[in-house]
Amino acid sequence: MVTRRIGLSLGADICWPLCYEALLRKMNLALPIDGKTVRFEVERVTIEPFDLRQPCRYDMVLDRLTHWYSTSREWIKKAIIMDGLYVLNNPWAVQSMEKHTSYCAMMHLGMPIPETWMIPPKSYEPLPDLRPTLHAYAKLFDLGRVGESVGYPMFMKPYDGGGWKAVTRLADEKALRAAYDQSGKMVMHLQRAIEPFDRFVRCIGLGPQTKLVRYEPGAPLHDRYTMDRDFVPDEEAALLRDTTLTINAFFGWDFNSCEALRKNGEWYPIDFANPCPDSQVTSLHYHFPWLVKANVRWSIFVAATKRRMRRTLDWDPFYEVAEQGLPYRERLKAYAAIAARRFETDRFEEFCATHLSQLDEVAWEFFATEEAKRAVRLKVQALFPAHEVEQFTELFWARIQQWRKDQRA
Ligand SMILES: Nc1ncnc2c1ncn2[C@@H]1O[C@H](COP(=O)(O)OP(=O)(O)OP(=O)(O)O)[C@@H](O)[C@H]1O
Ligand SMILES: [Mg+2]
Repeated sequence: MVTRRIGLSLGADICWPLCYEALLRKMNLALPIDGKTVRFEVERVTIEPFDLRQPCRYDMVLDRLTHWYSTSREWIKKAIIMDGLYVLNNPWAVQSMEKHTSYCAMMHLGMPIPETWMIPPKSYEPLPDLRPTLHAYAKLFDLGRVGESVGYPMFMKPYDGGGWKAVTRLADEKALRAAYDQSGKMVMHLQRAIEPFDRFVRCIGLGPQTKLVRYEPGAPLHDRYTMDRDFVPDEEAALLRDTTLTINAFFGWDFNSCEALRKNGEWYPIDFANPCPDSQVTSLHYHFPWLVKANVRWSIFVAATKRRMRRTLDWDPFYEVAEQGLPYRERLKAYAAIAARRFETDRFEEFCATHLSQLDEVAWEFFATEEAKRAVRLKVQALFPAHEVEQFTELFWARIQQWRKDQRA
């Protein structure tokens, strides 16, 4: 018998880890793999001083800290390099591939990313080399002319943004100049708005698994992920899936989401450097059980099969396809085929069918229990004022019960 240890490296996550741990406990897996019985233990990873040569006790880590907590990130990087740890997501790619890089790379692969410019910041930290550098090389530019090239309406947003920080919609040059004056030291993109759009979709990818959700950006946070179904035809759903898996395989992100808007029948990806996607029941509600189950499937597959972490990204196969001159949809299919190989889609599906067929039933039952409801309540308590806790716990809970009903149907 062997035990595979899964570490949860967590920050503000409350709800999904509780549910994840409960599902693993209830399934009590003992999988016959390569002549051995493989069992699983889950632990929360703690933060503490570490010897760079100390071994790592985990086979895989689900990480939610890398994007902002460098001690954890550096511990993870050490463990990948020295101990063969598998982690989701690739910490080097999280650290270095911001929104900007992801736009450039996917433009090169041919995705219809809207017209986007980068502009130097309005003001600077007064470092010793600043004056000679700017004096010699910074060209005075006419913001109005850049604005004309991008076209209105447009969005100004940080090149490395997230969480809607400093995102503004600009209708004309006057608004652009005012927003630039306000932007301080941030390095900004100006991006042509996809307007009017008739669909807005977030596609969540977890390993080879994807989930499309129609998104309502103007709604309050708890209503942005809608519960709509059949909001895109199959052919477009396949396109969004191929787009997301291409991005995720390219950057080595097992877990990421892609936002895309449809205008005049074309899908424009606008934000897909999200390698620590929202996983909270307070945003996902109806879709929350999908996320927890997807996490269980992918992490058990990884830990059970000792899937190897891809330490380098290797973009060449994508570039080779990009340079073949195929029509876009054909090219995207070829990228998605690379993604399917990298995410071992066939092997994963077979693994789930053989070893995790009970998960649907176990999750369906679990999401009716007091234990599940408590996980929801704890997250609501952490985010909502006291007088709203009851109301929102019931709201999210009712949506999860709706999910259970729909699963049965
Ligand atoms: N080019 C665009 N066309 C239309 N809407 C846009 C565009 N860019 C941004 N938006 C709107 O602004 C929102 C925030 O922009 P974006 O997603 O790029 O920023 P973010 O800070 O990465 O957000 P997130 O919290 O989703 O990570 C989008 O959800 C969308 O509603
Ligand atoms: Mg976004």
